[in-house]
Amino acid sequence: MEDELIPFLSAAKIQKKVAMLARKISRDYDGKMPVLVGVLKGSFVFLSDLSRQLSIPHEVDFLETESYGTSTLTSGVVRLLKDLRKDITGRDVLLVEDIIDSGLTLSYLERSLLAKKPKSFSVVTLLERKHPKGVKVRIRYRGFWVPSGFVVGYGLDYNEKFRHLPGLAFLARSVNQPEK
Ligand code: IMP
Ligand code: MG
Repeated sequence: MEDELIPFLSAAKIQKKVAMLARKISRDYDGKMPVLVGVLKGSFVFLSDLSRQLSIPHEVDFLETESYGTSTLTSGVVRLLKDLRKDITGRDVLLVEDIIDSGLTLSYLERSLLAKKPKSFSVVTLLERKHPKGVKVRIRYRGFWVPSGFVVGYGLDYNEKFRHLPGLAFLARSVNQPEK
C-alpha cells in the first residue's frame, strides 16, 4: 500500500529558516572554528544546507545513532552505530539534529560528547516535537516546533523512504483524525 503524505513545510519555508539559523550561528561563532557534528542519517540534508549558509569557517563530522528500529515509535534504547573521526577535546562542538522527539538520543549524545571535554557544546535542531514525557535537553537553536504525527522528507525517513523529498510532510496514518 502507498503511504499517503500530508504537506507540512515547503522547501522554501525550510530554506528561509535554515538561512536564519545560519545567520545566528555565524554571529555567535564569529572568530571561532566550530565542528558541526551531524547525527546520521536524518540530519544529512539539513547539515549540508546549513553548512553552505554559514559565513564562518567550520569543520564537519558525523556520528550515527539508532533509536527507532523500523517503527514510528521510539524503542527507548539509543545505540551508537558510528563514532566521530575527530578529536573534539577543546573544540567548539555544534551538534546538528533533524528532530528531537523524546530527547533520549540527544541526552545520550550530550553525555557521551561532554565526556570528551569539548570547549563548548551546543545543539541546533531543525525540528522539535513537544513530547509529554520528554527528557529535558537544552537546545540553543531550533527551526520549527512539530505537532504530533510522524514527519518525513528533508532527510527524515519512514523505513528508509522519503528522505529525498525537498519539503516536510506527515505520514497520513500517523496523524490523529479529529473525532466525528
Ligand atoms: P528521540 O531520541 O526520541 O528524541 O528521537 C530522535 C530521533 O528519532 C530523531 O533524530 C529521528 O532520527 C527519529 N525521529 C523522531 N521522530 C521522527 C519523525 O517524526 N520522523 C522521522 N524520524 C523521527
Ligand atoms: Mg536523528
